[in-house]
Amino acid sequence: MSTDPTQRHVHLPDGPIPRHVAVIMDGNGRWAAERGLPRHAGHREGMKAVREAIEGAAEMGVGILTLFAFSTENWQRPRDEILALMALLKLYAESECEELAERGIEVRVLGDLSRMDPESREAIDEIQSVTDGGGAMRLNLMISYSGREDILQAVRALAARVEAGELDPAAIDQERLEDELFTAGLPDPDLLVRTSGEFRLSNFMLWQLAYTEIHISPVLWPDFTRADLSEAILDYQRRERRFGRVSTR
Ligand code: IPE
Ligand code: IPE
Ligand code: MG
Repeated sequence: MSTDPTQRHVHLPDGPIPRHVAVIMDGNGRWAAERGLPRHAGHREGMKAVREAIEGAAEMGVGILTLFAFSTENWQRPRDEILALMALLKLYAESECEELAERGIEVRVLGDLSRMDPESREAIDEIQSVTDGGGAMRLNLMISYSGREDILQAVRALAARVEAGELDPAAIDQERLEDELFTAGLPDPDLLVRTSGEFRLSNFMLWQLAYTEIHISPVLWPDFTRADLSEAILDYQRRERRFGRVSTR
């Protein structure tokens, strides 16, 4: 629990809580630049906001929280920044592992992990196995992830099964494809939050976000608190989800 007194009286939304919340955690670099600090200082500070979002989501009764931590395109950033980010991810996995397990938070790291260094992959294996079976909330950390790559690797898996004679191409439907996505077995996000005021998806969960409600927060990720998450959920509760049908209100 946070001991910051400003965080204690956050209004918990009383309406329907989104079952699955996805977050594009953006604005670390700008947070650092505003303070004359190097970009990695923003990423380090962003870890506090990760903790805040996880605790807040669990307290509000969110079932699945999906955090976009590093995109496939982010591999094109300067080597120093990538190394700093990978070191932070490893540090996060190692330092938060036990606390997450105690809170019953089951962690899955989703993305092309083959590009990560062996030590980071070891830390990922460890956090996944130690938190396995946690029933309070599922936490997906999207690392080395891109929505288009997610769909492509699913298509490759289906094509391999067709080639092996196990699958009739005519039997490929939305469910079959979803079964091959990194998010297999999970419902689509109900709410997407993007911080730092950017209005774009940046190749995040392109299949899964088809009917997701979007909340853009102006807050830079390191400043994001559970009060901002609560505000996003209140905004979500004011939406009417029609899924292409006519209004029932
Ligand atoms: C988000 O913050 C973290 C990652 C993409 C890894 P940025 O690093 O994109 O910060 P800005 O957008 O440059 O402010
Ligand atoms: C999206 O943010 C990726 C993550 C938050 C991990 P970026 O900062 O990489 O996206 P763009 O470049 O602004 O679209
Ligand atoms: Mg950014």
